[in-house]
Amino acid sequence: MIIGIANQKGGVGKTTTAVSLACGLAEQGRKVLLIDSDPQGNASSSLGVNRTELEFSLYDALIDERPLNEVTLDSGRPNLYLVPAKVELAGAEAELSAASHNRPEGKPAFRLKSVLAPVADEYEFILIDCPPTLGQLTINALSAADGVIIPIQCEYLALEGLTQLKNTIDMIVSGLNPKLQIFGIVMTMYDGRTRLALDVVEEVKQYFPEQIFNTVVPRSVRLSEAPSYGRSIFEYDPSSRGALAYRALSREVEQRALAIA
Ligand SMILES: Nc1ncnc2c1ncn2[C@@H]1O[C@H](COP(=O)(O)OP(=O)(O)O)[C@@H](O)[C@H]1O
Ligand SMILES: [Mg+2]
Repeated sequence: MIIGIANQKGGVGKTTTAVSLACGLAEQGRKVLLIDSDPQGNASSSLGVNRTELEFSLYDALIDERPLNEVTLDSGRPNLYLVPAKVELAGAEAELSAASHNRPEGKPAFRLKSVLAPVADEYEFILIDCPPTLGQLTINALSAADGVIIPIQCEYLALEGLTQLKNTIDMIVSGLNPKLQIFGIVMTMYDGRTRLALDVVEEVKQYFPEQIFNTVVPRSVRLSEAPSYGRSIFEYDPSSRGALAYRALSREVEQRALAIA
């Protein structure tokens, strides 16, 4: 199953969710490929990859047609593999459009889909960490995906930016990828001491009763510290509230995937 983690808003917990879910599902014995599709490469560095030493990245597969298995790294953790990103991926947006002129059979939106096709059966989960935009990289991810997980920060006007994302998803469903579903909505950075956080969760629950996950991810300093050590929350502080939440979320994701399959 291929799942994009998307929200055009930055800092809502996409990368934290993508990395933690990838590690959580791998811990549960699922074979996982995490694709870092953000030029900032935060997912790569969160797993301890030194991006300056990388020979290849997602860019080489997307633009230079290097087979995906040649750009895939063993994360050093059981069951978990990574396609890293480097800053050059920022150029891919423009290049994807340009490439379509030379090779009309490969529509730019489907480049990632065709890159993934030869390896898709090797993994039980392919998770794609999207950049904070609705550009070509996110469109490529959602055109390739079976579902999208949308992290939403528990804050004022959380639903506001969602209209734009919903429009993009609808556009992709009607034109590019009819099977795309909202696989789930995860509420992040929940601060139980504030009334607001509770209200936001309730509001999102009303709009997306089917999609919202039961697990709500708390605001936790440990979650924000782990990436700077290149470690997942399960390695950095396995009994922290953040680790418990993402372990529970990983189980929910696994169950939903089984229910759909
Ligand atoms: N539940 C959380 N509690 C505390 N800090 C968090 C939490 N989730 C994410 N962060 C921190 O917030 C920042 C933005 O999160 P990130 O996952 O990078 O968001 P995005 O990928 O959407 O930009 C990062 O510094 C991250 O470590
Ligand atoms: Mg990110």
